[in-house]
This record gives sequence, C-alpha cells and structure tokens, in this order.
Amino acid sequence: MLLRVLGSAAGGGSPQWNCGCPVCAAVRSGAAPPRTQSSIAVSADHRRWFLLNASPDLRAQFEAFAGLHPRGDRTTPLEAVLLTDAELDHTLGLLLLREARALRVYATPATHKTLCDGSGILSTLRHYCTVDWQAVVPGSDLALADGLSCRAFDVPTAKRARFGAEADHGRVVGYRLTDERTGGTLVYLPAAQSLTAALRTEIEGCGCLLFDGTCWRDDELVRLGLTGRTAREMGHLPIDGPDGSLSQLPSLAAGRTILVHINNTNPVLLEDAPERRALRESGIEVAADGLEVQV
Ligand code: MLT
Ligand code: MN
Ligand code: ZN
Repeated sequence: MLLRVLGSAAGGGSPQWNCGCPVCAAVRSGAAPPRTQSSIAVSADHRRWFLLNASPDLRAQFEAFAGLHPRGDRTTPLEAVLLTDAELDHTLGLLLLREARALRVYATPATHKTLCDGSGILSTLRHYCTVDWQAVVPGSDLALADGLSCRAFDVPTAKRARFGAEADHGRVVGYRLTDERTGGTLVYLPAAQSLTAALRTEIEGCGCLLFDGTCWRDDELVRLGLTGRTAREMGHLPIDGPDGSLSQLPSLAAGRTILVHINNTNPVLLEDAPERRALRESGIEVAADGLEVQV
C-alpha cells in the first residue's frame, strides 16, 4: 500500500497564524518548511484512497496530491474517511467535502455522537450530502476495500474533546491497515497518551508506524505560557523524558517509525536542533507534508 502524509503538523499547523515561537518564526523566514494539519491518505491499489482524519487544510492537501484529483466529471478517488477522534484538527475538513454526493465516514459511536451533538460537524454536513456513517468498534476489523483490511483499536486517553460526548471508550482509536496482497502493515496513531501493553501489541512488527510527535517535552506548552496543560494531559505522550516515546519506540521494531501530528512549538521541526539529531540517532523520522511511503 502507498501512504501519503497530507499534513504533518498538529492543530494550528506550522506556522500557526497567531504564533511567533522559534519554529513558527523559522518557517516564516524560510528556514524550515511549512506544515499543514494532521492527515494521511492510504491506498492499496492507487485508485481508491482512504483519508485518515480530515484536516482544516484538506482543500490545499488534495490539490497538492494528484492521487486525489478527480478522474473525470465529478468522480473522486476518495473512497471514505476514517476518524481517530473528534478533535477539530481531525474533523473540520469534513465540512470541506460537502460537495460530495455521498460520504462514507468511519468513526466510533463516541466520536459520531460528538460530531453530531457536540461540534455539530456531521449534523451540519448532512444538510449538504448523504453521510454514510460506518460504526467503528475497537478490536474489530473493517473491510475497507478488496485487498485492504483495517483493524481499529482503543487508545486509552484522559483527553476529552471540549464539546465531547462523555463516553469512556472509543473517544480515541488507532488503526492498523494491512495490504492483504503484500502483507504490508501500517499503524496510525496521531494521538497516544501512553504506550500501554495493549498498544504495543497492536504496533509490534508493523512495517510502518506513524506515531504522535506532538511535543518534545511534557511541559512544553506550559513553559511557553501557552496553556496550563501538559502534553500528557492533552492526550499526547511527549518524546523526551524517562518514559517518553524516544525511549520506547525503538524497541517496538517497526520497519519505519515516523512522527506525525507535530506541534509548531516542537524543536524537532528544526533540522539542526539537537532534539532532531537525537531522533535521527534512534532511527526515528519526522514526517514532512508530501512524504510518501510504500508499505
Ligand atoms: C490536540 O491534539 O490535543 C488537539 O487538537 C488540541 C486542540 O486543539 O484542542
Ligand atoms: Mn490535534
Ligand atoms: Zn509556534
């Protein structure tokens, strides 16, 4: 299967419109590449594409990728959208797909409820097009297309969307996609608060892991005075620290480990930063917009 990173940044993108942090300033001066908000596209046959999360930057992301361009009069290679959660940076793009005749959306009941009754994104979208909601049940398989299967799994988190449903299970999920022809496997986890034993089992041995790279430090946003919440309190395992992702990911032995959903405050976005070097030395990659990986 082929995966394309449409957007590699966390909410806000890089640069973020109201941020003058060192990374945002570096991007504005041309010293670091800009990044759009978190989303990937996956296809096993290069014809039918699945979107994993729908970012507010979706329109530009589609235009930048020929694989998602229409093949003829209003025909789209977009088959469906899979959602990991109901956060705005993962779901606002659904409204930008409103010109679709029908849209297939995979989401857990908890995320579906938040999108209908909380943010209202799906209830609004239903006024424009048919929404074919497919309920995602963590721990079970979804048949996405011939030759492409997918397993959703629960990602335990303290995080609740601000407008969220109160359900305990299914607020955040990860996906493991398998190309049945080649056996290639991809795990997508843009939000993970800790690497529990269950999560490790889902990840172990996969060909490509796309993992939460939101913050370098747990208190990164607190120190910058941007919020009172730590990365973990927001549902994101920091990279650094005694049980951060940097100390854990190499032991999972994924073929490639690539960080996604990277916040604009994260120093790993600067090519020459020591934090970036530390990742490189551990064999962990930092996603860029437009990165394509054959899994
Ligand atoms: C997150 O990833 O934690 C959210 O997107 C942050 C937010 O915008 O609330
Ligand atoms: Mn986010
Ligand atoms: Zn910034």
